Amino acid sequence: MRDVKSRLYRSRYLNNESLAIKNGKLLIYDRTIPELLKNYTTPLYVFLEDQVRKNCRVFIRLLSKYFKYYNIYYSFKTNYLQKICDIISQEGLGAEVVSISEMELARTCKSKKTIFSGIYISDSILNYVKEYGIETLVISQIKELSRVNTFMAENGLKQEIAIRLKSFDYSHFSGIEYTPETFKKMLKLLSVCENLKLTMLHYHIGTQILKNEPRIKHIKYILDVYEKFENAGFKIPKLNLGGGFPEAGVFSEDDLSSFLNSLKDILQENWDKIEINFEPGRYIVGNTGLLLMKVHNTFQIGKENWILVDAGDHILPKASKSNFRFIFTDKLDKPHKNKISIKGCLPTDIDILAKNYPSPAGVSSGDIIAVANAGAYTLTWSFRFSFPLPAVILINKNGIEELKPQGNKNELYY
Ligand SMILES: Cc1ncc(COP(=O)(O)O)c(C=O)c1O
Repeated sequence: MRDVKSRLYRSRYLNNESLAIKNGKLLIYDRTIPELLKNYTTPLYVFLEDQVRKNCRVFIRLLSKYFKYYNIYYSFKTNYLQKICDIISQEGLGAEVVSISEMELARTCKSKKTIFSGIYISDSILNYVKEYGIETLVISQIKELSRVNTFMAENGLKQEIAIRLKSFDYSHFSGIEYTPETFKKMLKLLSVCENLKLTMLHYHIGTQILKNEPRIKHIKYILDVYEKFENAGFKIPKLNLGGGFPEAGVFSEDDLSSFLNSLKDILQENWDKIEINFEPGRYIVGNTGLLLMKVHNTFQIGKENWILVDAGDHILPKASKSNFRFIFTDKLDKPHKNKISIKGCLPTDIDILAKNYPSPAGVSSGDIIAVANAGAYTLTWSFRFSFPLPAVILINKNGIEELKPQGNKNELYY
C-alpha cells in the first residue's frame, strides 16, 4: 500500500507539473489518455509547454540569485522542434548550435545570443557566419585559430571566440588539451590573430551527470587555466560551463541551487566579475516530453513476463541516455509489485526498452504506457527504420497544437 501512496502522491513520481493522477488514471493537462488518442494513434509524442517554460524560469531565477552576470544558451541539438525552440527563446535563453540548420533555426526563433560550439568549423559555417554573423565561435582545435583568423581578416571581420578546453579525463576527445606546450602555442597564435578576440573559456564534460563532484573538479581545472591566461595578459570576461545536467526533477531545483552556490564559493571574489554561461539541453526539455505507446502483446520467457510495444529504439534511442520512466497509465492505483520486461517493436533482439521494470499486475494488450523523460535527444537521435515517424503534439492551456503529423505509412525513404 505504501508503494501505491508514494506513487500517487509524490510529485517526483510524475516529475512534470502538467501531469496528474485521478481515479488511478494518468491525466495530461486534465485530459485522459483516451481523449488524447481520439485523433491520434500510438506511438505519439506529447510535449508540455508549461514545463518547458518552468524549466527555463527555474534556471534563470537560480542563476540570477547567485551571479551578477550570466547567460544561458539552450543546446538546440537536444530537441530542435521549432515550436520548442521558439518557446525557449521567448523565455530569454540564447542558442547553442552545431550546424547551419541549427544556426538558421536560431535566427528564425530570434534567439537573443548564439554560440557555435560544433567540434570543428567547416568552410560552410564560416561562410554562414560571414553572411549573418554570430556572437561567439568556439574553437576546439588549435589549428583552427589561424584558419578562422585568416578567413575573418580576408573578409574584413572581427570575431569573438571561445577556447574549448578538453576535459582532463582520458575518455573525452573534444576541445584543446591543456599542456604547457599547447598553452604556449595558443598564446603565440592569439597574439598574432588580430581578427579574433578571446572572450570566453569553454568546456562541456558530457551529458546526464548526476553528481556535482565531477562538475566542481572541472570548474577548478578551468579556473586554473583561466588564471594562467590572466597571468599571460588575457582578461577573459566569460566562462562557459556547458551542459550536462539530468532532467529537471531527477536533478531537482535544490540540487541545481546547491551546485550554483558551490560554484559561487569557488569563484570567490570573481563571482561578480566573470559572466557565467551554461548550455543546458536535457535539463530544459527532458521532462517536457512523453511518448505514448501501446502494448501490442504479452508473452513469457521462462518465468519472466514480457510485453511487446509499438515503439522502439528508433524513437526512444538508448543513445539519448535518457532516464526513461514507464507509466502504466490506466493502472496507476494498483500496487506495482510485479516485474515486467519491455520489448520494442524493431525486429532485433537488441531492441529492449527495459528489463524487470516494476509494474502492476495484469498489464495486457491495448494498455497505454506513457514514457516520461522522453523530451531530450529522442527526436534528434531518432532513426526511421521502416516505420512512420510518430506525430508530435504540444499541449498548453489553450489546447492541442499539432507540431508534426504522423509520417507517411506508405513511403520508405532515407
Ligand atoms: C558543447 C555542448 N554543450 C551543451 C550540451 C548539452 O548537454 P546536456 O543536454 O547534457 O545539458 C552538449 C551536449 O552534448 C554539448 O556537446
